[in-house]
Amino acid sequence: MAEKTIVPPIKSQGIKTKLIPWIKSFIDDDMKEGRWIEPFMGTSVVAFNMKFEKAIVADINPHIVEFYNELKNKEITPKSVREFLEHEGEILKNAEENGYAHYRSIRDRFNKSGKNPLDFLFLSRAGFNGMVRFNKKGEWNIPFCRKPNRFSKAYITKIVNQTSAVFNVITENWQFHYKDFREVIQMASENDIIYCDPPYYGRYVDYYNGWTEKDENDLYTLLKGTKAKFILSTWHHNDFRENEMIEKFWNEFNIETKEHFYHAGGKVDNRNPVIEALVYNFDKNEIKKSHHSAIEHGLLF
Ligand SMILES: C[S@@+](CC[C@H](N)C(=O)[O-])C[C@H]1O[C@@H](n2cnc3c(N)ncnc32)[C@H](O)[C@@H]1O
Repeated sequence: MAEKTIVPPIKSQGIKTKLIPWIKSFIDDDMKEGRWIEPFMGTSVVAFNMKFEKAIVADINPHIVEFYNELKNKEITPKSVREFLEHEGEILKNAEENGYAHYRSIRDRFNKSGKNPLDFLFLSRAGFNGMVRFNKKGEWNIPFCRKPNRFSKAYITKIVNQTSAVFNVITENWQFHYKDFREVIQMASENDIIYCDPPYYGRYVDYYNGWTEKDENDLYTLLKGTKAKFILSTWHHNDFRENEMIEKFWNEFNIETKEHFYHAGGKVDNRNPVIEALVYNFDKNEIKKSHHSAIEHGLLF
């Protein structure tokens, strides 16, 4: 039976939850001897579901990195998440303008100090669609989603359970870094697997998701040069156009494609089906063969 997908407490546009079974099909148990290296962690949903004992996950969004660093160090725990949300949720319930006054005050203190990862969690779960987006100045940019009793008991329990699920996956041997991908890819060695999910060139942009052709070129140079295995998520084409980066950089590697629908986002371009691609530099059949021979030898069922 397929394992249940772990959904993290902080979500964002472009989250790869739906692609997890496909990405998993590239991973076999032997690879788990090495480290899972994910330089563009975003919500980190992919890393959490691969369940490696050792991992390096990183992003240039400091808020997400700080949240998971504190969770790893037990400065944040499922219990403290519950207490915080119950406390702030109660104030929100009674605040003026159907709660908006309190949302604004948390948003403002977060924008000013940017320091409290629990404020970040609160904002992401009180805003529209549970999304994360920052404006050009790097400030929180999601409108408040007015709902009576926004942080109901059931809603808080759901967020706490999501926090517990990721808390249980993170081991001592996981590292969370606030670093640029160029630094992170160079940490990889032969036994590791690097999974890259950069901002898609020519598509969605927010403060932490600017992406230029030079970035794509640097990514290509580093992935071409790495001794590790890599898998890169990118888009191949949609109804309107092709991703010119495929032809320019990625065609020399192996590519698998799949149709995927993104529901989030208001732009017409984002509501159309996208052909997603996984670009990789190893022989996927070898994985299947070793699975087969393990089954033949009674090692796997
Ligand atoms: C498409 S999202 C990753 C989504 C993730 N796979 C998920 O399922 O949630 C791309 C991420 O790359 C990060 N990013 C953008 N530029 C970066 C850079 N130069 N180095 C490292 N991370 C970067 C963004 O902050 C964003 O979180």
